[in-house]
Amino acid sequence: MIPSAKKLYELNQSGVSEQELADRYSTTRNIVHGKIYRYKKRMHLDIPEKDDDDESVDVINKTFEEDFGEVYSKSRTIRTLEKLIEEAEVDLEEWEITKHVINKWDVTNKFGTTFENWQVKAWLARKNPIEIVMPLLSPVVIDVSDLRARRAIKSDDRSNRSITRFMVLNDPHFGFDRNVKTGELIPYHNEKILQIALDIVSEHHFDYVLWGGDILDANEWSSHWIKRPEFVQTTQPALIEASKWIASFISESVNKDIKSIALMGNHDDRIEKYIIDNLPNVYMLSPGDDPDGESLLSISNLLGLKRMGVEKYATEYIHGSTRFIHGDIARKGSGNTARIHTEDTLMNTVFAHVHRRELVTKTIIGSGGERKEIFSMCPGCTCYTDGRVPGSSERSNWQNGIGILEFVNDKCLSHQIIKIDDDTCVYNNVVY
Ligand SMILES: [Fe+2]
Ligand SMILES: [Fe+2]
Repeated sequence: MIPSAKKLYELNQSGVSEQELADRYSTTRNIVHGKIYRYKKRMHLDIPEKDDDDESVDVINKTFEEDFGEVYSKSRTIRTLEKLIEEAEVDLEEWEITKHVINKWDVTNKFGTTFENWQVKAWLARKNPIEIVMPLLSPVVIDVSDLRARRAIKSDDRSNRSITRFMVLNDPHFGFDRNVKTGELIPYHNEKILQIALDIVSEHHFDYVLWGGDILDANEWSSHWIKRPEFVQTTQPALIEASKWIASFISESVNKDIKSIALMGNHDDRIEKYIIDNLPNVYMLSPGDDPDGESLLSISNLLGLKRMGVEKYATEYIHGSTRFIHGDIARKGSGNTARIHTEDTLMNTVFAHVHRRELVTKTIIGSGGERKEIFSMCPGCTCYTDGRVPGSSERSNWQNGIGILEFVNDKCLSHQIIKIDDDTCVYNNVVY
């Protein structure tokens, strides 16, 4: 039999839970709870206040973002949508309810009291959506005066850098055929090409003019060809012509301090080889009053190089990491000789001998990942390409051109081949 409400209350107060009382007296916990609750109410006994641990505490959350919102409650007292809207103070003139849910469940707090808890949630939409104001499109104005100033500063900086400029003239083959009937001299060296180069040197600052070898054709001294009557007595006019042009590139230069360099080619060696083979008594013969001076029949003495201040180099001239050679390789196929010259060196190579314009560049990556760019270049020849030069024919693939190289701090930063076609070229915006 279930004891009185007072007894249940006292037992509960002594630490016996409502469930234990229900089990002890074979009844339900709800009945025990109701008896104790009503007793306390009748006797005005203390009923615990809601606290943070009491899951019956009212919770109202409101979230509003521009055109949408949500309101949510969890309590014992808010049990309807209307009550939620009222408690959350939602203005229904502004908001429209698009959806809602209501849930209910039983909760027992730590005092053993069981009650109904209610969850009510509503989704809202603004009746008059907020107007999104897009920024007006307007022209973008950029002040470029600062950019112009920067360019001007940079331009000044560039113009102040020191550039060393080379002109390379390869294979002029100064020499003649003599018309055996009229005595007329027919030149191998192309005077029009040489005149173009001379015009450029007389109008632009060059620090060096470099003759890349085969300065003389020396046809009269060759052991390769049958000594045709046309070759006879052409050496003297060839020497005069070569000396005249070499001197002109010094005297006519806009840079009065231009340096002149002459590399020797295989044709330039012909006179010395002939002397060794046929006139050994003349080899290295010098005047009695100047025995240590240039030998009488040396190419330098015959052309007057030393007297003109031209530096002569037998095989190569080196400037920074660039070597200038005449070369003795002539591979078939366009560009093949230039490629060969990149395979055995870490230097740039400016070569002659092939009478063709060729340019190959190559990037070498070292074992440590360091990068080095090199190039190999032949700017073509300055002799005739029409087959008149001994050893060539009308079908030879020879090409005319001049080389221009620019160095900054001994590093070659510009390597140009100035193509000359039909005796015409373009350099620095001028047609020559
Ligand atoms: Fe040559
Ligand atoms: Fe040559």
